[in-house]
Amino acid sequence: MTQDELKKAVAQAALRHVVPDAVIGVGTGSTVDFFIDALAGMRERVRAAVSSSERSTARLRAHGIEVLDLNQVEHLPVYIDGADEIDPGGAMIKGGGGALTREKILAEAAARFVCIVDASKLVALLGAFPLPVEVVPMARELVRRRLRELGGDARLREGFVTDNGNQILDVHGLRIEHPAELEHRLNQVPGVVTVGLFARRGADVALIGGADGVTQRDFD
Ligand code: 5RP
Repeated sequence: MTQDELKKAVAQAALRHVVPDAVIGVGTGSTVDFFIDALAGMRERVRAAVSSSERSTARLRAHGIEVLDLNQVEHLPVYIDGADEIDPGGAMIKGGGGALTREKILAEAAARFVCIVDASKLVALLGAFPLPVEVVPMARELVRRRLRELGGDARLREGFVTDNGNQILDVHGLRIEHPAELEHRLNQVPGVVTVGLFARRGADVALIGGADGVTQRDFD
């Protein structure tokens, strides 16, 4: 099976986690694009969505699914999103698509985070995938120096501006032994908007697409 076929299979499997007649949280990325396309098939049972990016919002609306502002939503039973890496405890690196800030907001707002990945995203230790950090542009070099002190080589994602008007540093060379601690530490650096480590609020469930089909892991 190709990677796209695995992504499509987990996207399809994620439909079982959609709470009928409720607002659903929708993430960003190529796996989520497959999920949005699958969701269109059960549009009449989706009250509305909140979305983590302009990209996903446009795709949802193109399928006729209403997209609400999070401020209009009091209860979000489930958030479905992909990841760049996920470890055995459900901690993730996210933000390869640059949507990490809104993704973290929706993950926090949701009662349940369902992560949809192909098996290539499973890792024993986070950090081989460069860690995305969204920064306020004027603080970029300051944050870069702080990351260097922690052993990371932070490289500007050239030509990319986030949906919030900020920049992304992709941090290479980190071996992330204690993801929740590093997330907390980086969150304290002024100018850091969001760290693409999702450890303090990780996934509750992972759906993993592999050669033998889709398997489910529960972390709570
Ligand atoms: C976007 C993300 C995505 O979930 C992550 O990059 C995985 O993307 P894909 O499904 O395309 O592999 O965090 O900011």
